[in-house]
Amino acid sequence: MSILPHFLVIPFPILGHVNPLMQFSQVLANYGCKITFVHTEFNHNRSKTGGPRQENIKLVTLPDGLEPEDDRSDLKKIMSSMKSTMPNKLPKLIEDINALDGNNNKINCIIGTFNMGWALEVGHKLGIKGALLCPPSATSLACAVCIPKLIEDGIVDSEGNPTKKQEIQISPNIPIIDTTNFPWHGLGKFLFEHIVQEIQTIINFGEWWICNTTYDLEPGVFSISQKFLPIGPLISNDNNKSSIWQEDTTCLDWLDKQPPQSVIYVSFGSLVVMDQNQFNELALGLDLLDKTFLWVVRPSNDNKVNYTYPNDFHGNKGKIVSWAPQRKILNHPSIACFISHCGWNSTIEGVHAGVPFLCWPFIADQFLNKSYICDVWKIGLELEKDDNGFISRHEIRKKVDQVLGDDDIKTMCLKMKKITINNIEEGGQSSHNLKKFISWANY
Ligand code: UDX
Repeated sequence: MSILPHFLVIPFPILGHVNPLMQFSQVLANYGCKITFVHTEFNHNRSKTGGPRQENIKLVTLPDGLEPEDDRSDLKKIMSSMKSTMPNKLPKLIEDINALDGNNNKINCIIGTFNMGWALEVGHKLGIKGALLCPPSATSLACAVCIPKLIEDGIVDSEGNPTKKQEIQISPNIPIIDTTNFPWHGLGKFLFEHIVQEIQTIINFGEWWICNTTYDLEPGVFSISQKFLPIGPLISNDNNKSSIWQEDTTCLDWLDKQPPQSVIYVSFGSLVVMDQNQFNELALGLDLLDKTFLWVVRPSNDNKVNYTYPNDFHGNKGKIVSWAPQRKILNHPSIACFISHCGWNSTIEGVHAGVPFLCWPFIADQFLNKSYICDVWKIGLELEKDDNGFISRHEIRKKVDQVLGDDDIKTMCLKMKKITINNIEEGGQSSHNLKKFISWANY
């Protein structure tokens, strides 16, 4: 039997990138590929669950160049530090890994997430193939690829700001985008310039742009580049814990005791931080529901925000946890709907589980993802802000009732679930693309 490829995978060290790359590693490992997974030393020390446990996945570390007490939520700081520290250390790490088994199963390909283009460039210099795993949607990546054209057409300026508020379509069959909702909007000059540079790097050194999506979910996007390779939904079939944060699994026992389709699951991913007043309104909105709720209230990553519950919040109709086994929860029969910030991983996980969404986007690609959920796939509704810019407790109550009473949405959820799952089954397009990718890496 021929030896399957050896991948060195290296995510940008935030959970929204580490998780999908861990899942992709598990999928590749299930095919028999060998994986060396690079954590930053900081994340490795912080990780309580230790990541995947397959035999053919090996964890190694590199320093990110910051001190343990430094603020890693400062993207500018961590990106600059990683870029000045890690490229010098990666070649030696690769040499050591290859030497471990006498150069008999050398690294064939490096897979990095967005912001890790430098690793693909290092690999290229060493004669190693490179691919990008894109944590957001293919459409977000396509928008970024179109930046030079958007600047040339005067739609955004050289710092990424819209020259005026307008709605545009970057390609047919892609949702119309309000220019104030481009994924980079509000990130500032440094991060915008970084995105432009990064796109050039992945065009040069990333032969494939692997996306956690399917041809059916984002059909309009694939004509923008031949490099897109949809392999989603990324759902590994085993029970390995892939989250780097400690999950509170008591909520699964609690869910087992709830009636079918009775629980509203509320989670805003790993980055979103809510204003305390909005947090209060959400808490009181959950109290108003006829249903029970399971609410993930995550301590902020930098400990800058510590939510307090409003005095008149009862919370007796639900359960609150600090981090949950989300994929298991979404597939639990007692879940009725998902109040979500529409991060791409949560979006795909919800589509795969067939649950209706109530969309509450905050930043970056989340507005675009909301458009797919509400306008294209028609599997959810948007929570709308009032004149003061708040989502009121009454809006939450109203939309929960509305989404749960909407039979068309229920039908579409089941349809999208089936279409999505078909892609990863034998003969499906994502399954085909995955095999194509593995054999490309080998030659
Ligand atoms: C970030 C960006 O915010 C998002 O817009 C982008 O699309 C991807 O990167 P994040 O905010 O963390 O991601 O959201 P999301 O993409 O939804 O990823 C969250 C992940 O954490 C999901 O895989 C989800 O299953 C997991 N999760 C979330 C848990 O395991 N437990 C929880 O309690 C909450």
